Amino acid sequence: MSDDLLTTYQLAPSILSADFGQLENQIGLVMDAGVRVIHVDVMDGHFVPNITIGPVVVQHIRDQVHEGGGALDVHLMIENPERYIDAFAAAGSDWINVHAEACTHLNAVLAQIRAAGCKAGVTINPATPLATIQEVTGDIDFALMMTVNPGFSGQQFIASVLPKIRRARMLLPEGAGLQVDGGVGPDTIEAALDTGANLFVAGSAVFGAADPAAAARGLIDAMACRLDSQP
Ligand code: DX5
Ligand code: ZN
Repeated sequence: MSDDLLTTYQLAPSILSADFGQLENQIGLVMDAGVRVIHVDVMDGHFVPNITIGPVVVQHIRDQVHEGGGALDVHLMIENPERYIDAFAAAGSDWINVHAEACTHLNAVLAQIRAAGCKAGVTINPATPLATIQEVTGDIDFALMMTVNPGFSGQQFIASVLPKIRRARMLLPEGAGLQVDGGVGPDTIEAALDTGANLFVAGSAVFGAADPAAAARGLIDAMACRLDSQP
């Protein structure tokens, strides 16, 4: 896995929208289409209403993703994430991001992620001010700006977050990744690209499509025209 994945344009399909009965096949389809970042949405039924994936799923897909030169991007939408970081790291996660809203001691949690050998990310919800992460920009490898309220795939992109994403790019140090998650698809990718973000999560727009490989290629193509001006 290359560090370049954090700082180049990358589509990160979320397996939350995949057919779990054929997960290996679904991941294979998008990786063959050029995807190198697989997004894993972890929900605990407390921080968000839904319950989803645990470390055991990461463990089962790790070899496939790593052998394809990809990274496992684990988005923890859980309370007390410090209790589970080591388990997700041991399972094969490459990037782990936590919600600022879920961390009383955010600086310590980010240090824990790095100490576990993973890239550290911090996420904020649509209504959370950017200033919430201002003091930890030196402690992260990437930041994630939610463009839906977390909990479910298939929600509508909240366009009022766009100016905050632009300001996030200015706040982050050079070399940090900037990710957008929620409602990203063919109709919203251009607006998301305009903010200076470089990592784009897409769940239903990829795995909810009749042809996930073609859907992934379409979104990757939308990024390709920006390749001359890497963020
Ligand atoms: C939302 C998750 C997202 C979601 C994306 O809580 O963090 O990653 O799966 O799904 P779409 O792209 O369908 O909004
Ligand atoms: Zn996510």
